[in-house]
Amino acid sequence: PAEERVEDLLSRMTLAEKVGQMLQLDARAGVVDLIQDKHVGSILHASPARVLEAIDLQTQTRLGIPLLTADDCIHGHSFWPGATIFGSQLAMACSWDTELIERAARVTAIEVAATGIHWTFSPVLCIGRDLRWGRVDETFGEDPYLIGEFAMAMVRGYQGEGLDDPTGILACAKHFAGYSETQGGRDASEADLSRRKLISWFLPPFERAAREGCRTFMLGYQSMDGVPITQNDWLLNEVLKGEWGFTGTLITDWDNVGRMVWEQKVCADHAEAAAVAVKAGNDLVMTTPQFFEGAQEAVADGRLDEADIDAAVRRILRLKFDLGLFENPRPPSAERQQEVIGCAEHTAANLELARASLVLLRNDGTLPLDDRPRKIAVIGPNADDPQAMLGDWAGNSGQVDWMPDGHPRELVETVLDGFRAVCADAGEGWEVGYARGCEIESLVPDPAGDTLPDGQPRPWIFASPPADPEHLAEASALASSSDVAVVVLGDTVALTGEGCSTATLELQGGQIALLEALVATDTPVVLVLVQGKPSTLPDSAFEAAAIIEAFNPGMKGGRAIAELVLGQIEPSGRLPITFARHAGQLPVYYNQIRGQHGDRYADLTQEPLFVFGEGLSYTNVDYSDLVVSTPELGADEVIRAQVSLTNTGDRPATETVQIYVSDLVSSVTWAEKELKGFRRVTVAPGETVTVGLELPAAACTLVTPDLRRMVEPGEFDFCVGPNSRDLLRARFRITG
Ligand code: IFM
Repeated sequence: PAEERVEDLLSRMTLAEKVGQMLQLDARAGVVDLIQDKHVGSILHASPARVLEAIDLQTQTRLGIPLLTADDCIHGHSFWPGATIFGSQLAMACSWDTELIERAARVTAIEVAATGIHWTFSPVLCIGRDLRWGRVDETFGEDPYLIGEFAMAMVRGYQGEGLDDPTGILACAKHFAGYSETQGGRDASEADLSRRKLISWFLPPFERAAREGCRTFMLGYQSMDGVPITQNDWLLNEVLKGEWGFTGTLITDWDNVGRMVWEQKVCADHAEAAAVAVKAGNDLVMTTPQFFEGAQEAVADGRLDEADIDAAVRRILRLKFDLGLFENPRPPSAERQQEVIGCAEHTAANLELARASLVLLRNDGTLPLDDRPRKIAVIGPNADDPQAMLGDWAGNSGQVDWMPDGHPRELVETVLDGFRAVCADAGEGWEVGYARGCEIESLVPDPAGDTLPDGQPRPWIFASPPADPEHLAEASALASSSDVAVVVLGDTVALTGEGCSTATLELQGGQIALLEALVATDTPVVLVLVQGKPSTLPDSAFEAAAIIEAFNPGMKGGRAIAELVLGQIEPSGRLPITFARHAGQLPVYYNQIRGQHGDRYADLTQEPLFVFGEGLSYTNVDYSDLVVSTPELGADEVIRAQVSLTNTGDRPATETVQIYVSDLVSSVTWAEKELKGFRRVTVAPGETVTVGLELPAAACTLVTPDLRRMVEPGEFDFCVGPNSRDLLRARFRITG
């Protein structure tokens, strides 16, 4: 019946109504013209008042086709004051915990659905390889397998029990595909990617999301091999819709269709761009108002067949029927908001994920602090900055104009707030002092005088202000008079995000001077990194007693960090991304293709700063006795192995047992090793646990030059360990 209703509606729509149905426009400036003149099918960035107004206007339209409302709720309901904001995707990925990540997506869906939004532009399945790229914070890190696991978890969490589940929202796998493979880290530059590289590493997470039932995909901004993704027939039609059988809805990124005219300059006018985009199989066109006239003109002059527009509109209407929007347009519900937004259960899920996501990278034994009351100095520009805790897509940078003040300050626990609260609960005698110490960036007019396409000046570049000696002296004095100094450094949302890539990875502003001043005191320093993406670290960081990576840890991050330092929780996070020693060392991702002897720098070690999968606990866990019990097997069989883990310390540990496979000889050059699985295991003090591991041999694939993914018979190493470097190996052979 849905098919019949779709066909019936389609037969009654004018060309203008069909073209409008394909448009998603920005609701911030108002919705009256969008609905009455442009007949839009979808809106984004709409406040609840606007959603209500839009639903009201839409019910008065000729055919009453419901609107799809969308927003970027990437790690929580980014634009709702008081909503549960989790850590960034990169922070979440440090947990290596698919259940917690699925739960985060479920919480987000419940809160977002209550506000009348049907669709989130998440998860981001780009591969974070060049750390200069501003959107690394939005990724799940660098590994296709790990990203694929989290992709599926997020899709399940968002979409819930099925599309007609009113607590579910549509997931959107983005940015399809290869967008992160930039030139020099610069956002939206041309991606220099062969089809083989795409198939090998960039497409697998998307394929897993599609097979998990992700109903929408968003295209990347960039072009590849001279072809903007918006018109990439191979990727959209042969791969996504053909090979993977995707029957969902495609949306362009922001003005992708217009950009083919005014930025990429591959189309002479908007009619040509509209024709190209529709023929390539795009359904919704995001924020290109000119598409409305352009598409109609292209049909009129024969450059575009109306049947191609019908095909897209059919998919959009189908989606609206599947969501049940014709019966229930799912308006915002004040009652439901009251019940679910930021509720205790959601806050608890947020805290649990924040706790699981902290990565201890260095510890000389100073941590955890024991119960003896102490004076703790909390120092640094990110020690008490709520926006740094939340990161990008959390009500910042004018992403919405109806939430100008960001999230309510009292709901975001900064590191300082966390220490104050946790130390107050720890009993008598604990003291917490605070000094900001220095600044990270300041805004200055861009001397290049660059302008945006609308003629407006591109407003700012970011200067790195030197440390003020007076502030440094104040921070050092506080550290010297304390038992421990917790210094919180990192970056700001001005230095990460869309269009905000950085040429350098160094800690900006006065931060290095501040760190040097603090490690020069006699007080042990705990360095906490609150940042969007990995920084390089100065030598002084290794004079700190401990280093904790938090990325943007979300609303409850401050509490989780304080609990970790005080030993109330155990560190269990692992890095989903490799850290570089220097920006010139990029790329440093672990699964690089084997090169020859000269594949190195003469002036820098090949070792990264921290390896993929790295992370410590407060105890020591030894891996031993790796045995593969299937030393010879067919490609359709399962590799079975076991490894022993012994906790030789006196605290419990949650280990992430990582499985990598290394193909000893392959017919084409391939990565030295690739992550193929992981298991989280808890080991009590003094305990030895034997962990059984299984992996289908079919996972041991490579991609041939003629683009076939296959298992090549031969010898492999089954590698198991706590990170991508420290691995035990056992040989197995896959027979023909
Ligand atoms: O969803 C985003 C996308 O990731 C980048 N460009 C804008 C879109 C909508 O806000």
